[in-house]
Amino acid sequence: MYYPEEIIEEVRMRNDIVDVISGYVKLQKKGSNYFGLCPFHNEKSPSFSVSPQKQMYYCFGCGAGGNVITFAMEYENYTFSEAVKMLADRAGIKLPEVEYSKEERAKADKRSTLLEINKLAANYFYYQLHQPQGKIGYDYFKRRALSDDIIRRFGLGFANKTSSDLYHYLRSKGYQDDILRDSGLVTIEERGTYDKFWNRVMFPIMDVNNRVIGFGGRVMGDGEPKYLNSPETMVFDKSRSLYGLNYARTSREKYMLACEGYMDVIAMHQAGFTNAVASLGTAFTTQHAMLLKRYTDQVILTYDSDGAGVKAALRAIPILKEVGISTKVLNLKPYKDPDEFIKNLGADAFRERISQAKNSFLFEINVLKRDFALDDPEQKTKFYNAVARKLLEFSEALERDNYTQAVAREHYIPYEDLRRLVNRLGSQLSGMQPKPSSGSYEKREKKKKTEKEDGIRQSQRLLLTWLIERPQLFEKIEGIVGPDDFIEPLYHQVAKMVFEDHAQGNLNPARILNHFINDEEQYKEVAALFNASLKESLNNEEQQKAFSETVLRVRKNSLDYASRNAADIAELQKIIREQAALKTLHVTID
Ligand code: CTP
Ligand code: MN
Repeated sequence: MYYPEEIIEEVRMRNDIVDVISGYVKLQKKGSNYFGLCPFHNEKSPSFSVSPQKQMYYCFGCGAGGNVITFAMEYENYTFSEAVKMLADRAGIKLPEVEYSKEERAKADKRSTLLEINKLAANYFYYQLHQPQGKIGYDYFKRRALSDDIIRRFGLGFANKTSSDLYHYLRSKGYQDDILRDSGLVTIEERGTYDKFWNRVMFPIMDVNNRVIGFGGRVMGDGEPKYLNSPETMVFDKSRSLYGLNYARTSREKYMLACEGYMDVIAMHQAGFTNAVASLGTAFTTQHAMLLKRYTDQVILTYDSDGAGVKAALRAIPILKEVGISTKVLNLKPYKDPDEFIKNLGADAFRERISQAKNSFLFEINVLKRDFALDDPEQKTKFYNAVARKLLEFSEALERDNYTQAVAREHYIPYEDLRRLVNRLGSQLSGMQPKPSSGSYEKREKKKKTEKEDGIRQSQRLLLTWLIERPQLFEKIEGIVGPDDFIEPLYHQVAKMVFEDHAQGNLNPARILNHFINDEEQYKEVAALFNASLKESLNNEEQQKAFSETVLRVRKNSLDYASRNAADIAELQKIIREQAALKTLHVTID
C-alpha cells in the first residue's frame, strides 16, 4: 500500500459512496438502496445497486462490485493511489507524503520520470519547430493547412535532422542512459546512440489527463515508414490509448467520431469536430471500446473509404457493440479520409455526412451485398439467406423486426418474405443445437464431487451474507459457529474480520473489502458476498428453516473436516461427540 491504512480508511469514510457515484450514474432510491444503469456493462434496466449502509456498489448483472475507491479505479481507470488521491482531494483531506515500499517507489518513480522525459521531449520538439532548422516541418504543417492555434493545441513539433540531439539534450537535463533507453526515444548501441525520431514532424500522444505518453513522427514527404510510433513503454500502451481523447472527452456532443489517423483527428478538431479520436498504428481493441464507453455510447466511424478502412470498420463494429456502444458509419466518398474530405468540401459538408451516417448493421449488409451478383437469381437467393442469417444476430424479437423492416426497405426485399425467411432459418438453427450429452462416468462423478464442494462453500457464503445483512443473528449462533468453522480459506479470512468487527460493534464491509484490493479474483468474490441479498420472498417459517439449516451445515462441514484431520484418538472422540450433539441442536432467528 502506498498510504497508511488509517488514511485510506479516512478517505473512504469521508466520501459517501452515493454522493460519489451520483456524479457518474443517475441513481434512484428503491427501499434502502439506490439503483441505476450499470456503467460497467450494457443494460437497459437498472441492476446496478449502491448501498449507503454498506458503502458499497454491486451490479447484479455483471458482478462488478466494490467500495468507493474501487469505483474510482474502475470508472476512471485510476491506479489505487490515483483513486485515493482523487477522493482525498474531493473530501479536502491532505494526504501525507506517500510511504512507498522500495519496489513500489521505484516503479512509481520510474513512471513519473518517463512522463517527465516525454514532456521535455515534447517541449523540445515544439521548440525546434519554431527554429530556423525546423522551418521545413513548420512549412509542412502549413501546407497541410494547420493553423498556429491547432499546432499549439496538439503540441506538434519537429525532430531535427541531426541524429542524436534530443539524446544530448535529455542527458544535459540529468537523465541516465538506462531510463532514456526505456523511454523509447533513443536507441543505445555499441556503435553509438541515436534518437529514434529524426527529420520528422512530431505528434505527441497524450492520455486523458493530458500527460504525454508517446509520440508519432511523420516523414515530410514520401518515405518509409510514413509514420513511426513510440514503442510500448511503461507509460504507453497502444491498445488502451486513443489519440485526441483528452480533448474529445470534454466536447459536448453525445457521440464520438473515431478515425484512423493523427491528421484526421487534427483536421476534424480544427474544423470544430472536437469529439474525434483515433486508435494509432493498431487495430481497434476492446480496451479502446471500454475507454470510449466511459464517455459515450454512440460512435460514428469515420474510417478511410478504401478497402482497408472498410475492413477495419467491420472489425470495430462488433467490438463496440460488445461494450454497449451503438455505431454508425460515415461515408467519406469520394475522398479517402476525413482530412481530405474536410480540406475539399469543408466543415458544413462534413456535418451533413455526420447526419447521414449509416447505422452499422445496414452498413454491414451493404458490404455483404457486394459479394453477390444480384442479377443472377441464385445469387440473389443466397444474398437473402445471408441477410436473414445476419438478422438472427438480434436476439430480441422487436429489434430484429425493426431491422428486418429497415433492410427490406433499403434493398427492395418484400418485407413479409424476409420476415418468414428469418423465422424459418431461426427455427432451423435452434433445432440444430447439440443435445447435452450425459457424459462419462468419471465426468459425472467429478461433477457430483464439485457440486458437493460448491454446496459447502455456498453454505459458508450464505451464512456470511446472513450475518452481514442481519447482525442481530450473531447472538443466535454464539457457541455454535465461529470464524474457524469457515473452512474455505477466503471465507475464513473474511469471517475472521467480520466476527472481529462485530465484537467491536463496528461491522464495516467496505473496509473489510479493502484488504482484498490487490487480488482481483478475491476482491470480486468478497464484494459479491457482501452484496448478495437474502431472499425476502421467503416467509418467516421458511427463513427460520433456511437459517437453521445453513448454520448447522456450516458447523457440520467444519466438524467433518476436523475429523479428517484429527491428530489423535482423543481429539477424534471429542469431534464425534460434537457431531452427535449437533443433531439435537436448534437454531432460531427470533
Ligand atoms: N500508421 C502508422 N504507421 C504507418 C502508417 C500509418 O502508425 N506506417 C497509422 C498512423 O497513426 C496514421 C494511421 O495509421 O495516422 C493512418 O494511416 P494512413 O491512412 O496511411 O495515413 P493518414 O492518416 O492519411 O496520414 P497522412 O494524411 O499524413 O498521409
Ligand atoms: Mn490522410
